[in-house]
Amino acid sequence: MAERTAELKTKNEELEAFSGSISHDLRAPLRAVQGWARALREDYADLLPSGALDLVGRQEVAAMRMMEMIEDLLRLSRLSKHPLRLRNWDPAETIKEVWQMVIAADPAGNRARLLQSGDLPACEADPALLRQVLGNLLENALKFSRDKDMPQIKIQGWIESGECIYSIEDNGIGFNPAYARRIFQPFQRLHSLRHFEGNGIGLATVKRIITRHGGRIWAHSVPGEGATFFFALPLSMPALEEAAPTGKVR
Ligand SMILES: Nc1ncnc2c1ncn2[C@@H]1O[C@H](COP(=O)(O)OP(=O)(O)OP(=O)(O)O)[C@@H](O)[C@H]1O
Ligand SMILES: [Mg+2]
Repeated sequence: MAERTAELKTKNEELEAFSGSISHDLRAPLRAVQGWARALREDYADLLPSGALDLVGRQEVAAMRMMEMIEDLLRLSRLSKHPLRLRNWDPAETIKEVWQMVIAADPAGNRARLLQSGDLPACEADPALLRQVLGNLLENALKFSRDKDMPQIKIQGWIESGECIYSIEDNGIGFNPAYARRIFQPFQRLHSLRHFEGNGIGLATVKRIITRHGGRIWAHSVPGEGATFFFALPLSMPALEEAAPTGKVR
């Protein structure tokens, strides 16, 4: 079992290094494509019919989107190398701070309500990474309930079978539960870009962070009634402590 885990870990690391270097190498030719499209538009504007100029413009938009996706993939692969700095993490503090940013950035921010039911258990985690987790989950919760008169997000936390479990529930449009696993893969989006902006990288990032902590993440939804995202962090992390016996940094 230990051998199989080590083997899988090596395979995963190789795959991450591979996707990291691929995305890194893809940036240079893509920049060239962007540069030539811009040169075509700027230097030959008088010679090209408007239909051709329109196509060049579309090419530039698509190339920009591809550059964003490459950068997202690079960030995701860098995340795996970021050392875990474990501390006693107080979720309530992070939530307060992150929520302010989330409501400031969303057009429905001034109509939204955040409810915390009961105390949230503290846990051992990397606070900077958990800030990203909550930022992404709260941002999604508000984005996909933006169409409601009163977007409402409820946060709960409890301890169960050696894990701290947290849930974030919204009253938004929800998603088809058949895709409850797929949404954690990079660039998997269930809602159109026209209605809801985004690259589809947030939940992949969240999952990467939670699994690095030895935790789990999952989601439930009833379409039209909202979605609930759960994540569980182990109360103690023997595997991590073994890997870093002198401290809590891995
Ligand atoms: N709270 C939610 N309610 C309904 N659907 C959701 C919710 N959270 C995520 N989803 C679905 O899962 C998809 C993936 O989410 P993810 O956060 O990875 O991407 P995104 O929010 O579209 O873009 P990004 O996070 O990169 O800005 C979303 O596009 C949406 O279809
Ligand atoms: Mg998102």
